[in-house]
Amino acid sequence: MDTKEITKGIRWVGALDPHRPLFDALIPLPDGTSYNAYLVQGSEKTALVDTVEPNMVDVLLAHLDGIEQIDLIIAQHAEQDHSGSIPTILGRYPGAKLVTSPKGKGMLTSLMPIPEERIITVEDGETLSLGDKTLKFIHLPWVHWPETMVTYLQEDRILFTCDCFGSHLASDELYAVDETRVMRAAKRYYAEIMMPLRAVILKGLPKIEALDVAVIAPSHGPVHDKPQPILSAYRHWLSGECKNTVALPYVTMHGSTQNMVTYLVDALAKKGVPAEAFELTTTDIGDLGATLVDAATVVFGTPTVLGGPHPNVMAGAYLVGVLRPPVKYASVIGSFGWGGKAAEQLTEAISGLKAEMLPPVMSKGLPKEADYAALDALAATIAQKHGECNLM
Ligand code: FEO
Repeated sequence: MDTKEITKGIRWVGALDPHRPLFDALIPLPDGTSYNAYLVQGSEKTALVDTVEPNMVDVLLAHLDGIEQIDLIIAQHAEQDHSGSIPTILGRYPGAKLVTSPKGKGMLTSLMPIPEERIITVEDGETLSLGDKTLKFIHLPWVHWPETMVTYLQEDRILFTCDCFGSHLASDELYAVDETRVMRAAKRYYAEIMMPLRAVILKGLPKIEALDVAVIAPSHGPVHDKPQPILSAYRHWLSGECKNTVALPYVTMHGSTQNMVTYLVDALAKKGVPAEAFELTTTDIGDLGATLVDAATVVFGTPTVLGGPHPNVMAGAYLVGVLRPPVKYASVIGSFGWGGKAAEQLTEAISGLKAEMLPPVMSKGLPKEADYAALDALAATIAQKHGECNLM
């Protein structure tokens, strides 16, 4: 897409990446992503807020065609999808200084060749004038790394937030016009990038909420010209408030675990508890992550392989553990042929979730009447627990 004007003197000059398959070599990107960079032209100086993934630097340079001077390059975050083109841009604009937090300076200089004399560090709350526009830097650690900061353009009430409030969407539209689509993408993005750091981000959120913001301009996905929906969603997601839903990641080999998963989903539905199953060899784990943002319960389903859980379920349990969802209850269901410790090992693997463990249900071979009765009992327990918490 061409550059897009947000308001007089402020333009989107980033790059769309619609075909990138994975982020962090982990989460699928069904809608691609974007690396948003913004040019802010004041009456005396020009600033570039963030850059782009280095393999897309040519797009950024094309978008800066005709811009003869950049005075300040603002590096809000050291991760390479925003900082990786800084050396090229510093080369293109030899008079430019790089502006970052003190921690950002240390991280950027360890990640790429940047001469220290070209770096200016800014403290929390410090401002820099561009003439008729003023940039205020607000340190907001852990959105997404420890050095992260956001930038408030005071006169235009635009908040540049880098990863925070982003979404992986390579959209031709500058703004979040299709709110449903953007919020779905933002929730999925939140699950991977922000949910693991929920507690510390929640502490920093009031710093943003105290600002008078007309536009939120993140560094991935569309710009929010109506800030309230995304601010409200973050307030809700960060609160850890759960819904009356169950996430059921599982693998099946010969059908026994599949039967149990299908039966449990039906049994939960009969008790008024919606459940969503995710077959881990084929599922988009971004969807699993989004469901875990506010699911009250997670139940892992596994066959027994060489005495333990299926390796893909163990990998899924590890992933869920590092995403740190606010689930309140957890359990394990599955099957075995002649023995093993699948339930015990899986229970141990998810112990870091700090969820109340409900009794596992393991079937010898194909599930039989007693196994289905145990699944009915598990569904009843989950429904009762959710009811006690008044989950909606
Ligand atoms: Fe979009 Fe943490 O980088």
